[in-house]
Amino acid sequence: MGRQRVLSGIQPTGNLHLGNYLGAIRNWVEIQSQYENFFCVVDLHAITLPHNPASLAADTYAIAALYLACGIDLKYSTIFVQSHVPAHAELTWLLNCITPLNWLTDMIQFKEKALKQGENVGVGLLDYPVLMASDILLYEADKVPVGEDQKQHLELTRDLVNRFNHQFAQPNQPVLKLPEPLIKKEGARIMSLTDGTKKMSKSDPSELSRINLLDSPDEINKKIKRCKTDAIRGLEFDNPERPECNNLLTLYMLLSGKSKEEVAAECQDMGWGQFKPILAETTINALKPIQEKYHAVIKDKGYLESVLRHGKHKAEAIANQTLAKVKTAMGFSLPL
Ligand code: TYM
Repeated sequence: MGRQRVLSGIQPTGNLHLGNYLGAIRNWVEIQSQYENFFCVVDLHAITLPHNPASLAADTYAIAALYLACGIDLKYSTIFVQSHVPAHAELTWLLNCITPLNWLTDMIQFKEKALKQGENVGVGLLDYPVLMASDILLYEADKVPVGEDQKQHLELTRDLVNRFNHQFAQPNQPVLKLPEPLIKKEGARIMSLTDGTKKMSKSDPSELSRINLLDSPDEINKKIKRCKTDAIRGLEFDNPERPECNNLLTLYMLLSGKSKEEVAAECQDMGWGQFKPILAETTINALKPIQEKYHAVIKDKGYLESVLRHGKHKAEAIANQTLAKVKTAMGFSLPL
């Protein structure tokens, strides 16, 4: 039997931040040698909110370059762009037709984002989880490594698989494969630097709320210096009254590679004035090799294009097979 398959993706909307890195990409890198992996830049998802056409293509390339810079290895993994494989959009249409509307209106992310959009909310935003399900199901992924905020979308994907197989597959011969989320305990929910009860997010209007992977040492120093803390001396994990403290210690733990026990012991008597410069230096050092590799890769457009061209061919071959299976099960005549 071959290796199990992994699929995951990130939207090319602006800069990636530490939440995307620690909740997703770093885990992809860690597990990639055990699986056959597909990592997608989900540009069709990026237009579910108003977007800037002048930067979409460049942002898409930047995310692919960051995947490589963070350590995605082409020996184990395929990197491709979602819109380069038309099967994603086509499977979305087919699955739309079996998705109950209330499954989508119940999604937490939809409700949160729709609230911000007011009357301008588009159908694409509502349909976003069906497109995500298509991304996963086309590759018959066994595992989907994501941050905590994607858990509900993975549950919807699983519900769709059961519904599809129930309606269109022969008993005991499923057409679609049931994927499992892989959500690591530590780092699955990195919080904002300005409010420890909100997740770190690309859409937060304040730049001070997040550290981007490409931030300069000066920016990182400034953001950590200004981040929200509390008035209590002695730093600790897991105190619900101190969400900022837990988040900053978690960042230090993950970026330094130290264990939770080591960090708890090291920081238990520290004040913020002592801890912040240590966290800033650790963050700068952890991001430095990623930034160096990113700048080398992004300069070499020809190389990046060849990676994505190869990725498209490999992804497309698998995606088209699944799509044909789905269409046959639904009773379509296949194209001549
Ligand atoms: P996106 O682009 O919002 O985020 C990409 C990945 O980063 C994780 N993440 C976080 N993890 C920890 N703490 C945070 N503060 C944080 N913010 C973001 C997300 O959980 C995600 O893993 N719908 C997806 C993209 C997608 C996808 C897919 C993922 C499209 N198709 C198929 C997996 C499989 C999204 O918008 O992620």
